[in-house]
Amino acid sequence: TEHKGPGPPPSKSTTYYDIWDSHHVRLPCSPENRYPVEENKEKKLVKRWDLIQSSLRLGIANGYQLQKAILAYNSRYCKKWSFHMLENFFSQSSETYKQKFFNVILPRMVDLALSLPAICIEPIPLMSSQRNCKVTITQQQIACLLSNAFFCTYPRRNSLGPNSEYANYPDINFSRYLFNGYGSWQNSPFYEKLKTLLHYFEKVCENMPTGTVTFERRSLSDFPLWEQSPCHLRGLHLSNGGRIEDEGTGLLQVDFANKFIGGGVLSSGLVQEEILFCICPELIVSKLFVEKLDDNECVIITGAEQYSSYTGYADSYKWAGNFNDTTIRDEHGRRCRQIVAMDATCFRRQAIQYKPQNVRRELNKAFCGFFCDYDPEHSPAVATGNWGCGAFGGDPIFKGLIQLMAAAVAGRDLCYFTFNDEDLMEDLREMHLFIKQHKMPVCDLWKLIVSYHKQ
Ligand code: AR6
Repeated sequence: TEHKGPGPPPSKSTTYYDIWDSHHVRLPCSPENRYPVEENKEKKLVKRWDLIQSSLRLGIANGYQLQKAILAYNSRYCKKWSFHMLENFFSQSSETYKQKFFNVILPRMVDLALSLPAICIEPIPLMSSQRNCKVTITQQQIACLLSNAFFCTYPRRNSLGPNSEYANYPDINFSRYLFNGYGSWQNSPFYEKLKTLLHYFEKVCENMPTGTVTFERRSLSDFPLWEQSPCHLRGLHLSNGGRIEDEGTGLLQVDFANKFIGGGVLSSGLVQEEILFCICPELIVSKLFVEKLDDNECVIITGAEQYSSYTGYADSYKWAGNFNDTTIRDEHGRRCRQIVAMDATCFRRQAIQYKPQNVRRELNKAFCGFFCDYDPEHSPAVATGNWGCGAFGGDPIFKGLIQLMAAAVAGRDLCYFTFNDEDLMEDLREMHLFIKQHKMPVCDLWKLIVSYHKQ
């Protein structure tokens, strides 16, 4: 990879320092970011950031002008991108909201996006596959980066092809899917999703939060030998009502993730992960730099703030107004909320989840998420639930057992939210009690699973 910067970055730079290579996020304000334009029937390359600045600064008074501005520096997509959702969103909004949005919120979002070279002065490393790495960024930097995502300014992030540079990275520009809304828009959860995200922008533009958020990619190479583990199951707290994000304060909260972090939050998804990313949009910035997760990897995010409340789920999801997050901050200014993004396997055929290699994959993934390298004795319990058992079709009792086994070896208790499934709560309680009464270590459970699969 080519390094075009004038030498290594200073440790505390005070002015914008750019690295345009395949190890760092290619920022829209990079001087290397160029775009073809046609002038007097001649094509030439211009600095794309100049295009972005001039089109966003033209003054945007309605949805149509917003589209036009975005397409000015994404002209290749003029015929490909649709902005149905955005159009309908504004046609359905009240006059008062539209006035407020175009006169107050949007100009502030433009200022925020265009302040990128002043706010994000150091290059952002890509968290690529099989790297253990951590990035801490301020909430202000995140707001600025997300404003850029809203205005679809990220270069090389629009093409879908398997050979495109970012084929292994999640989508980040909002226009790719979110603004088009996939067909029918009426009562669409898209509308509610957009409301939730715009609420975030409104809030941060009014009163910029001052904390930080840490993103950590964890790639493990050593995993427990499940067939030999003498560990015994730890405590299990079961809850029928309640949601992970509400009741899991102070615990490690599981994000039922996609291997492309954030899943369909910027497209059609609206289940556990996407809802979490909508109400805590700072999580979305991970899509900018976290490469697709492999089987031995997860991402831990510490400090994200919750901005919105919601009701319903999937098709019935509704934005339920502002949420004032009062979670205390740690000494680094991070909200004391820790989320682990771990992707289960999607099982189209139920039976294959019991195959030993698939069981090992899920055990390893859960272990990677649960394991605590710095203080295993005092690590808080894991707040989880039907991981991999909704969109991904897993068997909740079996996944419950897998999570219990992984938590046992990681030395953590589980706090399990059954999402209003009372029968599941009773079944899990009985299973846990039975295993504890028979003093069965993890290796015996592994053997039982293998023999169950054989039968
Ligand atoms: N608290 C506790 N339990 C919940 C909550 C909550 N807030 N929300 C849902 N559940 P799913 P998966 C329960 O389908 O199967 C996304 O698109 C509820 O019983 O989100 O791992 C990702 O990006 C629900 O059916 O997780 C991935 O692509 C179950 O948890 C994919 O879905 C599973 O939720 C992951 O699918």
